[in-house]
Amino acid sequence: MIHREVADGLERLWNVRVNCIWEADESSRHGEVYIFDHVFKQECTNSDVYGSVVKPLVDSFMEGFNATIFAYGQTSSGKTHTILGNKTDPGLFQLVSNQLFQHVADQVDKRYLIRCSYIEIYNEKINDLLDKSNQGLTIREDIKGNVLLDAREAVVDNVDKVMENMMQGNKIRRVAATRMNERSSRSHTIFRIILESKDANQKDGPVHISYLNLMDLAGSERVSLTKAAGERLKEGANINKSLSVLGNVIRQLSEGKEFISYRDSKLTRLLSQALGGNAKSLIIGNVTLAAEEETRSTPEFAQSTKTVKNKRK
Ligand SMILES: Nc1ncnc2c1ncn2[C@@H]1O[C@H](COP(=O)(O)OP(=O)(O)OP(=O)(O)O)[C@@H](O)[C@H]1O
Ligand SMILES: [Mg+2]
Repeated sequence: MIHREVADGLERLWNVRVNCIWEADESSRHGEVYIFDHVFKQECTNSDVYGSVVKPLVDSFMEGFNATIFAYGQTSSGKTHTILGNKTDPGLFQLVSNQLFQHVADQVDKRYLIRCSYIEIYNEKINDLLDKSNQGLTIREDIKGNVLLDAREAVVDNVDKVMENMMQGNKIRRVAATRMNERSSRSHTIFRIILESKDANQKDGPVHISYLNLMDLAGSERVSLTKAAGERLKEGANINKSLSVLGNVIRQLSEGKEFISYRDSKLTRLLSQALGGNAKSLIIGNVTLAAEEETRSTPEFAQSTKTVKNKRK
């Protein structure tokens, strides 16, 4: 739990064991067990998450796969902390960049060109976080159906340059205080790393391109808890709407539906290849242990089974 939750005297809502979580209140009518591929306990650091589930994905990215990592969860559950971290617990951003440039330094027989872009989706409008004058970007598609955006791409040749671009973008990213989070993200962001590689010994050899998207979503929220009004209320409504479209898209994909409603929001349209295309994706579901009234909601990306619950009993 974070300081605010401890100071508010909030009780612990979830129990955690191996890759399962279930409600601490056994009498709760929601008392099912939710199963994930991995569950990281509250003592775990971002480096633990990185070592177990993120590093293999970044290895694939460097071999030529497109990859997307995103943090999902209610407001104040730690999504931005997971992606950006702090001095004592560096976030995925820093850890991924370290791995990338270490790999590049080790591969003496390859030539690399690395670029990055950083955009936000704010109130269903796409803004370039690396170029203040480039606002309201339009999504286009090429003949192969690849989604394109005219966002500024900065060439980066070391970890510091990546961090510089990220920090520059964060200065203009929409953040505001709500009752639940002093620095609540009011927009979804996508930091994209584009890796071009070719054989150093083959002058006219093929160039391989792969994309890695690191996304920090804005969190779902209940107005009764965030006490949002005015501009915050409008933002909250847009955030909830696009997250609900994302939930629908993931459900349709998991049920093998033919029609997937990617076009219902900018977020799902931009993510269409990551979610349904030829790409590797990792969803990190951030869940706070604190039992705030009215925040009880099913972790959408977990599989729920009554069988497991019965076994536990
Ligand atoms: N694992 C953690 N260790 C220490 N502090 C944390 C951790 N997770 C979150 N926090 C702190 O909790 C607060 C809320 O976290 P954060 O801003 O990451 O939430 P969020 O999920 O991004 O919320 P929002 O959807 O409102 O943007 C921050 O002050 C953050 O530093
Ligand atoms: Mg955030």
